Amino acid sequence: MNDAIDTLYAKKLDIIPDFQFDELVAQVFDNMITRSVPGYEALLNCLTLIAQKYVKPNTNVYDLGCSLGKATLAIQSGIINVNCHIIGLDKSIAMIQRCQAIPMQQKPPITFIQANICQTPLTLASMIVLNFTLQFIPITQRTALLEKIYQALIPGSALIISEKLQFSYEKQAILDSLHQAYKQQNHYSDLEISQKREAIANQLIPETLNTHTERLKKIGFKTITVFFQHFNFISMLAIK
Ligand SMILES: C[S@@+](CC[C@H](N)C(=O)[O-])C[C@H]1O[C@@H](n2cnc3c(N)ncnc32)[C@H](O)[C@@H]1O
Repeated sequence: MNDAIDTLYAKKLDIIPDFQFDELVAQVFDNMITRSVPGYEALLNCLTLIAQKYVKPNTNVYDLGCSLGKATLAIQSGIINVNCHIIGLDKSIAMIQRCQAIPMQQKPPITFIQANICQTPLTLASMIVLNFTLQFIPITQRTALLEKIYQALIPGSALIISEKLQFSYEKQAILDSLHQAYKQQNHYSDLEISQKREAIANQLIPETLNTHTERLKKIGFKTITVFFQHFNFISMLAIK
């Protein structure tokens, strides 16, 4: 893993290109996500505990949109004695190349694959994780992806979805200002915050908690619960 500091939006840009998970972002992504997503490290620990509880022998575990593999490794550390296969998928070549270079000493084995998760078959899974990935999938493709995930999960198994949420106007204003304070506390300047916001606006499309929950219920998930929230970021556990 690398610990390069994210300064991608530190200088005034004449044109702000759409945000992409490219080589430049991959170089600083560890730093970017911990400084931008409140509670990220604590959430990784939750994934370890959920993996301990839900992963079953002779199944697959998928980390969809694995970026640099932080969540994938957190899952692995919860199931070192379970005979299963962990698969981390990401469509970004820059991200997956870094994942494939991670030294693998522990079991269960992890395979990192460069692929579009909307076009990849998933099978026999006891745990599937979408950690801040669904928000980058076009809204029109989200139901089909979640239906595919549901079909791949064995009964009683777990889907984890972490997302930035959209709230009603008043709540949104409060939570946005707290999120801004979090980023300032992590030494992002107002210029960096506003340029990044503009770059990501058309790429990260948040939905309300109600939209997420109703869609998961309609697909067939039995129990859906929020297990983690930090300002406008939440994580849900949906059990098949
Ligand atoms: C915010 S990052 C995820 C962070 C990561 N899960 C973690 O916990 O560190 C979103 C990731 O989803 C990936 N992604 C977006 N759309 C994708 C798709 N259709 N197929 C595969 N990966 C995708 C991006 O390349 C990016 O690496």
